[in-house]
Amino acid sequence: MEPEHDFHKSARAVSGLLAMIFGFFLVIAAVLLYVMIDPGMTAFRSEPELAQQQAAPPAEDDFDKVEDGIHVRTGFVAEEGYMTVVNNCTNCHSALLVTQNRMSRESWEATIRWMQQTQNLWDLGKNEEIILNYLATYYAPEKKGRRQNLQDIEWYVLEN
Ligand code: HEC
Repeated sequence: MEPEHDFHKSARAVSGLLAMIFGFFLVIAAVLLYVMIDPGMTAFRSEPELAQQQAAPPAEDDFDKVEDGIHVRTGFVAEEGYMTVVNNCTNCHSALLVTQNRMSRESWEATIRWMQQTQNLWDLGKNEEIILNYLATYYAPEKKGRRQNLQDIEWYVLEN
């Protein structure tokens, strides 16, 4: 009777131990599986925290930012018609190619014609007027900063 009782006791102990080990691995497997499915552990985060993360400001927010009257992305003076210029004149080349130039209305028009004839610039339609007005106003030849024309000069003839 005695040995059999012992055997039962130890068998129960062993199977209990096995069950514990098995359960332990089951828990680890479940955790691993969960992390695989939801690496962000979203179920354990508070609602506001998640909402804040999802509401992170999109990059587009600053896309057309204007600072001190300058369209930051292109450097254009942010005055009437500038978005028409941004939309039509920065597709093929940098805005800098436009903003670093100072021209009369006629020269701007000639530049546009030249691009239309040789560089596949599209017909600007009604926008051409808006663009020319804008360019001729804000990217006109600078009068100041250049010396005045010389006046009252006594010219002399060069002799051969
Ligand atoms: C379809 C493409 C395209 C568009 C749109 C375009 N350009 Fe150009 N533009 C060009 C190319 C190509 C050049 C030559 C670039 C170079 O020399 O590197 C050029 C050159 C220029 C130059 C320099 C000209 C020179 O003599 O050096 C100016 C100024 C200019 N573009 C202004 C404008 C303006 C203003 C607009 C909007 C109305 C505009 N571009 C839209 C293609 C375009």
